[in-house]
Amino acid sequence: MSGVVRFGVSLDSDLLQNFDKHIKVKKYTNRSEAIRDLIREELIKQEWQENKEVTGAIVLVYNHHKRELANWLIDVQHHYFNCILSSQHIHLDEDNCLEIIAVYGIAERIKELYEKLKAKKGVKHTSFTEATTGKKVD
Ligand code: NI
Repeated sequence: MSGVVRFGVSLDSDLLQNFDKHIKVKKYTNRSEAIRDLIREELIKQEWQENKEVTGAIVLVYNHHKRELANWLIDVQHHYFNCILSSQHIHLDEDNCLEIIAVYGIAERIKELYEKLKAKKGVKHTSFTEATTGKKVD
C-alpha cells in the first residue's frame, strides 16, 4: 500500500489564479484534490492511448421504428461480445430508444466498436466515456 507524499509545485502566479478559479467552479474544496483528479485523468488518457485494457460506457439514442437498425445494433454487439459487459435498453418514448453499453477490453477494439456505432445512419446520438480499470490510478 502506498502512502501520501507531499511535493511542491512552482508555477506562474497568473496560471495559479486561473487554476484557483477553475477549482472553485468545479466545487473542489482544495487544490490537492483538483490536482489528483487532473493526474488521474491524464493517466486514464494514457491507458487508452497505449491500447491497454480499459473500461467505459457507450450511450446511443436511436429511432425505434427503424427495425433494420435495431437488428444491426444487436448483430454488432454480438460480434463484440467479448468486450461488452452489459447493455441496458430504455424505451425513451413512442419513437426513441436509449441504450447504455458497458465495455471492458483492449482500447483499440472498444474504439473500433464505438466508431462503428457512431457512424451508423439512423443513430441520433452517441457519446463515449473513457474510464479506467482503476489499476493505474490509485
Ligand atoms: Ni426501445
